[in-house]
Amino acid sequence: MEQKTARLSGDSAGIAAAAKLLAAGGLVAFPTETVYGLGADARNDAAVAAIYAAKGRPSFNPLIVHVADLQVAEEYAQFSDTARQLAAAFWPGPLSLVLPVAANAGLSDRVTAGLDSVAIRVPAHPLGHALLSAFDGPVAAPSANISGRVSPTTPRHVLDGLDGRIGAVLMGGACDVGLESTILSVVGDKVSLLRAGGITAEAIENLLGKPIRRPADPDRPQSPGQMASHYAPAALIRLNVTEPKVDEVLLGFGDQAQAVLNLSPRGDLAEAASNLFAMLRQIDLVAQEKQARIAVAPVPMHGLGLAINDRLSRAAAPR
Ligand code: TXA
Ligand code: MG
Repeated sequence: MEQKTARLSGDSAGIAAAAKLLAAGGLVAFPTETVYGLGADARNDAAVAAIYAAKGRPSFNPLIVHVADLQVAEEYAQFSDTARQLAAAFWPGPLSLVLPVAANAGLSDRVTAGLDSVAIRVPAHPLGHALLSAFDGPVAAPSANISGRVSPTTPRHVLDGLDGRIGAVLMGGACDVGLESTILSVVGDKVSLLRAGGITAEAIENLLGKPIRRPADPDRPQSPGQMASHYAPAALIRLNVTEPKVDEVLLGFGDQAQAVLNLSPRGDLAEAASNLFAMLRQIDLVAQEKQARIAVAPVPMHGLGLAINDRLSRAAAPR
C-alpha cells in the first residue's frame, strides 16, 4: 500500500513520534550499529505481516526481536547460563541469540515463523536504543531493504528501496559496523554459529574458552533465511579477483592500483565491513553505466573477513 514515509529526526520529538507509530502498528526503519532495521511491534500480528509485505520477504524466514536490555529479553526467550554469559559480554552489540521462546512470550507467530525458538538482540546504536526504550516493548526487525537486495547502512539506502512502503525512517546517519549481527544458536551450553557477522567467531571462542560449532557446509546454513542468493546488486559479480578483465570494475581490498573503489586500502577488515554494502551499491551503479561486471579482490578469511566473504558469496551466487 502506497503511503507517505515520514523522515523523523534523531531528537526527542523524532524518537517519540517513531515510538508512537510503532505502538499504532506502523513500520519504522531505525538505525542499529549493524544495518538499518525495519521495525514493527513484535506482538502485533498485522504489523509483523506488514513487514513481510513491504520487503517482499518469504513468510518462512523468521525475524530478529530487538529489545532494550537483557532483563526485557528474558521476558521473551529462555536463557541458559551460557546464553547469559554471551549476553553479558556482547550486549548491547552485534550479536543475536537464537533461544527457546519463553512461556507466555506473547510474540506474533509470524516473528518466529512457527519455530519454537526466537532470535533476540540488544543493539548498541544510541538512537536505536533510545527508540526501544521509548517504545518499551519488543520490536521485530529485519534489515530495511527489499528482500534479496543489499542491506541498508544509511537512511538514503532505506528510502531507495522502501520510500512510500513504510510509515517512517528515523534518520541516524551511517551504521558503524556495516554488517549484520552474528547469529548464534544456544542450546544449554552448546553454541553454534548460524550466521557470521559483526562479532567474530574468535571473540566468542575466546570468551567461552572452547570452539563453537560452525556450519559444516557453508552452502547449507541452518538459519532459514540464509538463502544462497542475497545481497544481490544488479550487475554480476566475480570474487577473489586479482587481475580484473577489461569488462570488469574492481572493488579492491588492500593495496590495489586498479580498484575503482576500495573496501580498505590499508587492508583493515573493520573498515572493509563498514564500507561493504555502501560500496556494493556504488560500484553497481558504475558497472551498470559501463555495462560492466563487478570483480572483487580477495578478502582474508579470518575475523570479520568470515562475514564479509559470506555476504560477498551470496551477492555473487546464481540468482
Ligand atoms: O544486524 C542484524 O541482525 C539486522 C539488524 C536490523 O538487527 N537484522 C537482520 O535481520 O539482519 P534479517 O531479517 O535480515 O536476518 C535475520 C536472520 C535470518 O537469516 C533468519 O532466518 C534468522 O535471522 N533467524 C531469525 N529467527 C531465527 C530462528 N528462530 N532460528 C534460526 N534463525 C533465525
Ligand atoms: Mg537481511
